[in-house]
Amino acid sequence: MTSKLSLEHTNKLFRYMKDGSSVEEFLYRFDLSRKELDGVLMACRIYGKEIDIIKQGDKEVFERIPVKKYSLKKMSPLDGKMIHNQICVVSDTHFGSIHNQLHLLNRVYEECDKRGIKIVLHVGDMVDGNYPNRPENPRQQFLHGFDEQARYVCDMYPQVDGITTYYILGSHDETHYKNGQSTLSEWIPRCRKDMKYIGQDCGEFNLDGVKIFMDHPGGGSAASLSYKPQKRIELLESQHKPKILLIGHYHKSYAFSYRNVQCVLVPALCDKTQFQQKQGLSNALGAYFLDIYSDKKGNIQYFTPEEILFKKEDIWDEVGKDKAKVKQLVIKKR
Ligand SMILES: [Fe+2]
Ligand SMILES: [Fe+2]
Repeated sequence: MTSKLSLEHTNKLFRYMKDGSSVEEFLYRFDLSRKELDGVLMACRIYGKEIDIIKQGDKEVFERIPVKKYSLKKMSPLDGKMIHNQICVVSDTHFGSIHNQLHLLNRVYEECDKRGIKIVLHVGDMVDGNYPNRPENPRQQFLHGFDEQARYVCDMYPQVDGITTYYILGSHDETHYKNGQSTLSEWIPRCRKDMKYIGQDCGEFNLDGVKIFMDHPGGGSAASLSYKPQKRIELLESQHKPKILLIGHYHKSYAFSYRNVQCVLVPALCDKTQFQQKQGLSNALGAYFLDIYSDKKGNIQYFTPEEILFKKEDIWDEVGKDKAKVKQLVIKKR
């Protein structure tokens, strides 16, 4: 729907989305479905109007978000004073799940190699974890328990000369600790010198002075993609605010700028799970390439998030195909 909405039409609809006004009445007034409303909200964002949906008592209402425009400085990327970095961001590989898509992670790393990228950040849920209180769990995994999943990371995670992967661990990874005090952070660095642990749930990465915060929150998604990330940014004190905030866990893809923080919701690299199917949750499958120009003080001057989303035909839904057919991607330069 966003492609059909002109600025004029979007402005007209936006006028009716006042703070505290009812979402239900808005849908009725313009005869829109909930899906079409998502398109309207997206169009609003494209035209620089941030609006969210929040709960007020038992009804949903609109909330307008004041957007501080991200001002680009006067430097030119060609004047040689800026630091240029290209990095890749991946998340939620859920190794061991029957929805494993190692072949797509391999494709991302092959592309990194072609582009000369040296740094990949992984934002958590590296493995699918262990849930003894979920009886359906064993049927949803082809690797069970800590040993099998940790071994898979060590033996199968792409290994490309010149690329270092920095990772945090997420909610699924942590279940191994909760169920037996085993931590991937202890074992991966022993076998993989190209993989560096940053933290459980969150961690900070310094990219030539640019502060990048990697975050793997818990809980479910909000009605609007930007709502929870915006709330997290609002909680950050100004001296702790990163320049880039990367969020895993939601299996959603979205990039936006808010309060001078470049925020990226990083899509997953596994297919939709049974839980997501039952809950009617969507699952974005892909990665981001970030093109960053910064100054000596670590301030971002230019930022281009490039979204890579895989299509239905790229995804293998045959159980075990990934396990049976995919080899570890190893690229050696000497
Ligand atoms: Fe996840
Ligand atoms: Fe998670």
